[in-house]
Amino acid sequence: MLLGVNIDHVATLRNARGGVEPDVEKAAHICEENGAASITTHLREDRRHIKDEDVYTLIDSIKTKLNLEMAMAEDIQQIALDIKPYSICLVPERRQEVTTEGGLDVAGQLDKVTEFIKPLLDAGIIVSLFIDPTEEQVKASAKTGAQFIEMHTGAYSEAFGYKEEEEEFLKLKNAAELAQSLGLKVNAGHGLNYENVHRMHEIPGLCELNIGHSIISRSVFTGLAEAVQKMVELIK
Ligand code: PXP
Repeated sequence: MLLGVNIDHVATLRNARGGVEPDVEKAAHICEENGAASITTHLREDRRHIKDEDVYTLIDSIKTKLNLEMAMAEDIQQIALDIKPYSICLVPERRQEVTTEGGLDVAGQLDKVTEFIKPLLDAGIIVSLFIDPTEEQVKASAKTGAQFIEMHTGAYSEAFGYKEEEEEFLKLKNAAELAQSLGLKVNAGHGLNYENVHRMHEIPGLCELNIGHSIISRSVFTGLAEAVQKMVELIK
């Protein structure tokens, strides 16, 4: 199983000051140098973290694969066709949400999704659909031409350690099995952290996990001691 690191929140921190620090490109390189198989960024319609310039810089400088998360928006489809990332992951997007709150309703808009991803597939970009782990969404996804689904692990992550954990976990396991039987490859992500990630190994054949917030959060603490020591040394 491979790790894709979502570096959106490096950009969140950078944008808090409107400058260039921390450098998103440098963050991507550190992830790659330390075992990430791909770099994920979500170019949101409101550009609240990753900006257009970031994806143009990343596509030229990363050595692994760029996975571009995007909503069904024509201007972002145009950018994807221009930069040709290794893959795109189609996600739903609501302006006011803090993060991607639910999976894409593929079943409810099968024709629209199929039509939207066609030019991307024709351009040789791998397409993944970010869906809730339900039979309805998996079966619909298999009809679109997309090669991958990414299962939304948010409900499992929230249920982890509570009585609903097993039920949420089984939804993921069953959805993965169904998807694979229909010829889809399966990724997973959202809300995974250092406590709950180990159960992903109980789902046979998962290709890649996309993880962002917990990794960036942890890195604040693993890096803070050195950062303070260095500044103390400089101002002595
Ligand atoms: N996968 C998708 C499709 C997402 O939208 C996100 C959040 O941007 C992630 C994975 C990563 O989620 P988290 O930041 O909670 O690890």
